[in-house]
Amino acid sequence: MGVLVTGGAGYIGSHTVASLLERGEEVVILDNLYQGHREAVLGGTLVEGDIRDTGVLDDIFTKHSIDAVIHFAANSLVGESMSNPGKYYENNVYGTLSLLEAMNRHGVKKIVFSSTAATYGEPERIPIEESDRTEPTNAYGETKLAMEKMMKWFEHAHDIKYVSLRYFNAAGAHESGKIGEDHNPETHLIPLVLQTALGKRKHISVFGDDYSTADGTCIRDYIHVSDLADAHVLAVAHLRRGGTSGIYNLGNGQGFSVKEVIEAARKVTGREIPVQIEARRAGDPAVLVASSKKAREELGWNPSRDRLEDIIESAWSWHQHHPDGYGGKDNK
Ligand SMILES: NC(=O)c1ccc[n+]([C@@H]2O[C@H](COP(=O)([O-])OP(=O)(O)OC[C@H]3O[C@@H](n4cnc5c(N)ncnc54)[C@H](O)[C@@H]3O)[C@@H](O)[C@H]2O)c1
Repeated sequence: MGVLVTGGAGYIGSHTVASLLERGEEVVILDNLYQGHREAVLGGTLVEGDIRDTGVLDDIFTKHSIDAVIHFAANSLVGESMSNPGKYYENNVYGTLSLLEAMNRHGVKKIVFSSTAATYGEPERIPIEESDRTEPTNAYGETKLAMEKMMKWFEHAHDIKYVSLRYFNAAGAHESGKIGEDHNPETHLIPLVLQTALGKRKHISVFGDDYSTADGTCIRDYIHVSDLADAHVLAVAHLRRGGTSGIYNLGNGQGFSVKEVIEAARKVTGREIPVQIEARRAGDPAVLVASSKKAREELGWNPSRDRLEDIIESAWSWHQHHPDGYGGKDNK
């Protein structure tokens, strides 16, 4: 039995593929390489194609013995989702519908879904728990919530079991040094800070230093990408054991402020990292931190790479060896 990983040439997807391969799984990767990179796929069978293409999906499910899908393929830029929501409904929501319909046609009954903290919107309490209110404040989060709800109704009608993993900020790179984070455009704090350390950016912008937090900057939850990858693999195991569908937060329960991240990066890199304080961005909550008690208890998730310095160290090692990422679009 094998696993289909959609978006498996992307950042978190490629680390999950590595995790699956380490456990001897047969893996098929479906990625249209819109953001993904061929070089990020360390093994398995890479199919270059789109989740909205029924023919490609039918072909994969016919040719390969797949019993579970891990679904990463999506667009995930908050700003872009606000200026072009149609793109997000089309790729994320319609793409997921296309995938679930294909799974149903081929009798594939398990899906692990990469969801997001953006489904919560402004949190009602910290740490956020899975039962908390979900009122996304951007179109990206809204599409992810719609995808979760779609899976609920496909379970109701077709008995496709799902695990939805809601996470915050993936960070770090694989211990082999072969794969790491390379988004285009890059919007995540840690790679932006490290690009500044490398001199590829003049400064790192900090949006607001007057929040009601200890140092005035926003606090966010960071999880090492390999710990996230392990959670996806554990979620497949949970469903294979006959576990029930569910939604799980993957957070470190603690969080780090923007200033703490920059300070840790200065320590790890030994570089200066100039900062420019800018105005707050609309819709940025002061603190976003999740409890992952449920994932620990029910999935047996035990993240082991949770020291901020270690996360940054692994990302720094990747960035130093790949200052231009995987080499940009031309290298695909
Ligand atoms: N990076 C984070 O911190 C973070 C946090 C929360 C949730 N997520 C979610 O995790 C998932 C992976 O995030 P990432 O950072 O690895 O992003 P990524 O862009 O690196 O990976 C997504 C992959 O999906 C592929 N893809 C997109 N649309 C496709 C389509 N229609 N058909 C086939 N392939 C398609 C892209 O080419 C890319 O390789 C996303 O769904 C994202 O919403 C990410």
